[in-house]
Amino acid sequence: MRKQVFAANWKMYKTVTEAQAFVEGFLPLLNSESEARIIICPPTTLLGELRQQLLGSGVALGAQNIYWENAGAFTGEISALQVHDSGASFCLCGHSERRQYFGENASMVALKAAAAMGAGLIPIVCVGENLAQRESGQTLAYLQSDILASLKGLTPSPRMMIAYEPVWAIGTGRVATCEDAEEAIAHIRTVVGGIWGEIAGQLSILYGGSVKPDNIASLLACPNIDGALVGGASLSPQSFAAIVNAGFTSKMPEG
Ligand code: PGA
Repeated sequence: MRKQVFAANWKMYKTVTEAQAFVEGFLPLLNSESEARIIICPPTTLLGELRQQLLGSGVALGAQNIYWENAGAFTGEISALQVHDSGASFCLCGHSERRQYFGENASMVALKAAAAMGAGLIPIVCVGENLAQRESGQTLAYLQSDILASLKGLTPSPRMMIAYEPVWAIGTGRVATCEDAEEAIAHIRTVVGGIWGEIAGQLSILYGGSVKPDNIASLLACPNIDGALVGGASLSPQSFAAIVNAGFTSKMPEG
């Protein structure tokens, strides 16, 4: 059975002091009975410090990006082995901001996801259509081709996760309707089922894009939505804790 997952994507926000203040505020607010998996993906510079701060809390860490080689002369890049060594257990792969501003494409995402798995990280592969694709009725076709290319060559694993993040909903305050998100995520599950068989039913697939405390419950009510990847609303301990705790009250975690 699938676990609920709530992942915070801090993007390029927070210093060490700000991260410490977040943890101090956040941990006491969590519902201790919740079995949801909570992941914080901070800037890489904060992994070591947060590993100490979160010790024994059950909150896991993820990287926001990695390079696919394990080591080498790649100035400015960081490997899956290195972020794992710094305390990360997860890694976002192919976030739309990486694709939009840093030229990542689906074949690079597949290489990153494979490197993550090879280093013992669980990849959270991000996919999502842009506004033009949605408005021209291309959403499902685009998601199908992108997910197939982003998973190409990967060893099927029920531990891997996917985040469906429509680009037009990220940071815009415009959240997908539950029907649209459910349709897209069910489609992603079917496409993965075509290549990975019944493992597709075990994957946690998250929704991301303007998730807030006041819309999380209705998103989680959809059968295929297993949790959320949260940007802006994950920066405050109060709002991220409210999202995680809403998960507990809206749907008992299975698994
Ligand atoms: P948002 O970002 O919640 O601020 O829309 C989500 C994301 O980019 O992962």
